Amino acid sequence: MLNGRDVARLQKSEYNYLMSDKPDPFSAPFGTLFSDHMAVSTYVDGDYDYPGAAVPLAPFSLHPGTHVLHYASECFEGLKAHRQVDGSVAIFRMEDSIERMLLSIAKLRATPPSADLLRQLIVDATTANASSTPEPPGSLYIRPTFIGTAANIGAAATPSREALLYVINSPVGDYFPGGVRPLTIYIENDIPRTTPQFGSVKSGANYVMALGPTLDAKRDHVADQVLFATSDDITETGASNFFLCDEDRVITRNLDDSFLHGITRKSIIQIAHDLGMEVEERSISVEELRAWSEHGEMFLSGTAAVIAPVGKVITRGEYIEVGDGQPGPTTRMLREALTDIQTGKSEDKHGWLTHIESP
Ligand SMILES: Cc1ncc(COP(=O)(O)O)c(C=O)c1O
Repeated sequence: MLNGRDVARLQKSEYNYLMSDKPDPFSAPFGTLFSDHMAVSTYVDGDYDYPGAAVPLAPFSLHPGTHVLHYASECFEGLKAHRQVDGSVAIFRMEDSIERMLLSIAKLRATPPSADLLRQLIVDATTANASSTPEPPGSLYIRPTFIGTAANIGAAATPSREALLYVINSPVGDYFPGGVRPLTIYIENDIPRTTPQFGSVKSGANYVMALGPTLDAKRDHVADQVLFATSDDITETGASNFFLCDEDRVITRNLDDSFLHGITRKSIIQIAHDLGMEVEERSISVEELRAWSEHGEMFLSGTAAVIAPVGKVITRGEYIEVGDGQPGPTTRMLREALTDIQTGKSEDKHGWLTHIESP
């Protein structure tokens, strides 16, 4: 058994490794490097307190009876800042992430902060860490997080009366090892990703529920991701939304509470409209996907994944190649259109970028 000193030593050595080695974000696994600063606000009984500036990144000290460790009172966001063609740094679609995080916190039945406070934390942390933003295709991942911190193991049916709201940053390269390559997707027909009423909440509990089927599919089918399709209704993977496309159309599942309302998904829909493409938001069956693989393209969308082409689908023991198995032209075109806006190469006509002042 670990004693308190061992735990402290472990925390310290991992922290030192991350802080001192500073390996290249393109060779370190996604999400394992951390920038030097964080912004932290403390919630107690209805009030959020924020000192008004980012502080050095450091471990938190938590009571072993902390609410989040027992009852999963946690949610988070994932957005990115990109280095622009002129060398400056801008955050992509921050307001959409703020809106989604406030909804997630409310769904945990906790008290959300004001949008202004969450915005200030994101901007303060990202400004303090802006110099660690890699050149494209890398970026600075931004992770706002909410955790219930009351020391109370009798509060399964009560929201935590204390909480931490904080923002950390991680310099990142590619989410999928090997860069942009066609992915193999396993279709899971039986096990849902999470409970239907909680699918649109970005809470850690949802991710641990999806872990079992994802690890099983990786082991048994050498799949990169699992596409959840309970009752033949294709929704999303464990960390991204799903699209069918061809040269003049994109199709994705219509929104409901059962899956995460991706901000990349929303951006692709807008870009497709801007390009004069048809957009269909509706249910997609496995049979349609099978037929689509003969003439169309498929991709995953997400902040981490960006737009990731699907080359192969595994369904009920059958391996189906999508087209010739290589990234299709519409997938590549949409990916470029999105990353060009994110990096300031093309016009930000929808006001999606928040430019960070140099600290
Ligand atoms: C379960 C799930 N679905 C979809 C997405 C895509 O959402 P977004 O485009 O906002 O990153 C994510 C990404 O974070 C996710 O975790």
